[in-house]
Amino acid sequence: MALLRRLALDREMAGSLQTQIAGQLKKLIQTGELSSGERLPSTRELSNSLQVSRNTVVAAYDMLVGQGYVEAQLRSGFQVCRATQAFRSLPVASKVTRERKQTPSQPGVPVPFRPTQPDVNLFSLQIWNRHRTRVLKRGSCLLHYQSRFPVGLDELRQNVAAYLRDSRGVQCQWHEVAITNGSQQALFLLANLLLKPGQRVYMEDPGYPGARNAWTHAGATVIPLPIDEEGICLPEGDSQCASLMYVTPSHQFPLGTCMSLARRLTLLRAARDAGSWIVEDDYDAEFRYSSSPQPSLQSLDENRRVIYIGSFSKTLFPALRLGYVVLPPPLVDSFAALKSIADDYSPLIDQATLASFLESGAFYAHLRRCRKQYAERQSYFLQLVSRFGLPLRFPITGRGMNLVGMLPGNFNDRVCSDRLRLAGLDVPPLSHYAVGPTPPGLLFGLAAFDNRAIQRGIARMAPVLQGKGMDRSE
Ligand SMILES: Cc1ncc(COP(=O)(O)O)c(C=O)c1O
Repeated sequence: MALLRRLALDREMAGSLQTQIAGQLKKLIQTGELSSGERLPSTRELSNSLQVSRNTVVAAYDMLVGQGYVEAQLRSGFQVCRATQAFRSLPVASKVTRERKQTPSQPGVPVPFRPTQPDVNLFSLQIWNRHRTRVLKRGSCLLHYQSRFPVGLDELRQNVAAYLRDSRGVQCQWHEVAITNGSQQALFLLANLLLKPGQRVYMEDPGYPGARNAWTHAGATVIPLPIDEEGICLPEGDSQCASLMYVTPSHQFPLGTCMSLARRLTLLRAARDAGSWIVEDDYDAEFRYSSSPQPSLQSLDENRRVIYIGSFSKTLFPALRLGYVVLPPPLVDSFAALKSIADDYSPLIDQATLASFLESGAFYAHLRRCRKQYAERQSYFLQLVSRFGLPLRFPITGRGMNLVGMLPGNFNDRVCSDRLRLAGLDVPPLSHYAVGPTPPGLLFGLAAFDNRAIQRGIARMAPVLQGKGMDRSE
């Protein structure tokens, strides 16, 4: 059969052999080289000719049947589907070229010292899967549409509310808790719900780019405000204030400052007087090593102007994509309506698994384990930095997953970061997070890297930071 000579497999190519066979046959059908009604070689013939198993050929034919290119004939094998003329008008060539140009990539693992990464290896998938299996045994309800739960399963909202009340002093009823796809979705939905184009948002500078993007995407004007040792500095005598203020009071991102009580009260007063909303992002408050954590800003708020957000990305693992918002009562319904437009609700099986994980206490055991490891990693990193005599100063330590290392004033942090990248390290410059001028510094993530990785990372970093050409004149 002439067709057999036109098919050839490249065994070096990524992807399965059945996909290659199906792809080549599909192209011949699309270009008209195989016409409608034409019989295809039997699975035995094709498997002999291509030196592959018959199962591989059957799987390729099944794929083409599923896509409507080929039809199975009772007792006489497979033939090109009679309706395939229509496919020929498709712009095959341009589609194929587009696919060829984009090389598919695989998910990777973070390299030292990429910030904001938890150590996912400390997380027990075995325990997680046990909870998952248990919730799936309840029956098929989690597999159906459940549009009555746009802001999450009640059992999860109850567990999250209890956790936030106990550990962060958050004032909340469980029905004020909304579950989102990571805290990034909470930021996006809040921006859409609360901001009109041109309205002002106060943000710490340097600050979290994910939040800045959400506000600017909604058309708001972001006003970057400086940070001193007490936290964000509101402009003096500003009668207008802003419609929304975004802050990270427990552990300022990225500098690490903990907002003073006096500054917290000033912020709450300003929000009350101007009728502004405060978004408190409590992204990594669980990780305190040398002192007990301050309660949340929301816990001090008597006027319910604070919207509290948090995430399981740091405490469990980022791919889970589950976060939460505690909403003041007037926003509960409108937030739920918007969330339901966005995606109906967040994945239910993961939500139910997480509820069971929290309920059982496994969450707290995991947190204790992480806290111990992360504290040890921070102190090991600081010991090595000083042993190597690196030109870095760490003003705030003893908490969080990241540390900011300040460089000498004449250094250019972008040049440093670029050179570290060439050495295989991922250490963003402080200026990456800032809108205005900022002293030179680097942001190190330490939580995800064990002592061996830290040791190797520092050994690579030392010659770069101690080398020449790091100053601002570069
Ligand atoms: C300050 C801050 N807020 C929020 C997030 C986002 O977390 P999520 O993964 O829940 O979207 C991050 C992630 O790095 C962060 O650093």
